[in-house]
Amino acid sequence: MTNLGRGGQSSPHTYSYPQTRQGRRASDKLALVKNKPSGPYVFEGDIDGLVAELQPTIPLYVIRPDILARQAQAFVQGFCGTTMYAVKVNPDKHVVQALYKAGIRAFDVASIEEVRLVRRLAPKGAMYFMHPVKAREAIAEAYFMHGVRNFVLDTKDELHKILQETAYAPDLTLIVRLAVKGEDAIFALSDKFGAGVQDVADLLAMARPVAAKIGVTFHVGSQCMDPAAYRRALQMAQEAVHLSGVKIDVVDVGGGFPVSYPDMEPVSLQTYFTEIERALNACGFAGCEHFCEPGRALVAEAGSMVARVELRKGNMLYLNDGTYGGLFDAGKQFNFRFGTRRVGKEPGEGGTAFCFSGPTCDSVDMMKGPFMLPDDVNEGDWIEIKGMGAYSYSVRSNFNGFGRSATVFLKETK
Ligand SMILES: Cc1ncc(COP(=O)(O)O)c(C=O)c1O
Repeated sequence: MTNLGRGGQSSPHTYSYPQTRQGRRASDKLALVKNKPSGPYVFEGDIDGLVAELQPTIPLYVIRPDILARQAQAFVQGFCGTTMYAVKVNPDKHVVQALYKAGIRAFDVASIEEVRLVRRLAPKGAMYFMHPVKAREAIAEAYFMHGVRNFVLDTKDELHKILQETAYAPDLTLIVRLAVKGEDAIFALSDKFGAGVQDVADLLAMARPVAAKIGVTFHVGSQCMDPAAYRRALQMAQEAVHLSGVKIDVVDVGGGFPVSYPDMEPVSLQTYFTEIERALNACGFAGCEHFCEPGRALVAEAGSMVARVELRKGNMLYLNDGTYGGLFDAGKQFNFRFGTRRVGKEPGEGGTAFCFSGPTCDSVDMMKGPFMLPDDVNEGDWIEIKGMGAYSYSVRSNFNGFGRSATVFLKETK
């Protein structure tokens, strides 16, 4: 039998992993990152220095708190109302706390787990339960134990459920979700949720007498590239309110605000805010409370993920993360491309097109990209994948035992 082992072991049955002093130190530090009891593990410097220090053997999320704060401020100052953070987009506790510190005081929660998380991390934060289909126990616990008063719905049955589980509470804000076309967005979000204009009108009329406040919401789809999509959605909301014959108190324009990705350069956030404010006024909603629910635009650009190349086969790189981990959007359903860079060796993005394979045994776990990297990328190189602050950490699964990751906050020094 050929001895394929490393580290000079004498028998194929007693494999001894080479324990260099440097290797031990690096894995000790990664354990420290993962087990830090309070506050994020903060590194001062740049990603290359961080990776040299930690030599991460599992996917490493690198979050830049300065960018989180910048994006939070852009919404707090630029949007004509209250900005709630859509927690599902990145529920990392340090991310939620950093956004709170940066001025985000309201949270869009989708499940009772997110309700509990926000209550723990931001005890004074306001919560909006924006999932149109909620478990009865979740409604009751949210209302009676965590002070949640704001609930979304898109059917009569959900309205009854909310009323029953809150014991017909007199202090509810009930927000009706309208379905809008997601044609300007990369990820449409109205196939599953949202009612048509006439149904929204009927639900508003039903909710009016039983709620302290009522309102309308919609989601134009995630990574919405056209600000005018919000105007068109608000015009539909206006029609629904007109048909209902009742007065509303709240208009929530949802999420969807885009960020830059390869070959995708949206117009500025301010252009979106200006378009929305004009449309709110033109549609007769100036006197309402205004909300938006961004996720991606608050957190995507703040995060990178560092993955390691485990093997190269032609122009296919086998990484230690994939579509069952933090790279779902790069998989076969969306074929989304992210910016990539080899860590450490030389500046520049690289001019050769690669595709990726994730670590699981499933053929779905492949990403065609193309991802641009230097031609000589090989096993042991680390790749920075950009724009990973959103919909990455939150969608990780443990399929094939590859779910682990670590998170570090990076204070960049230039
Ligand atoms: C109800 C709701 N609000 C807000 C968001 C966040 O959207 P985005 O990340 O596009 O801003 C989502 C995303 O799924 C959502 O379902």
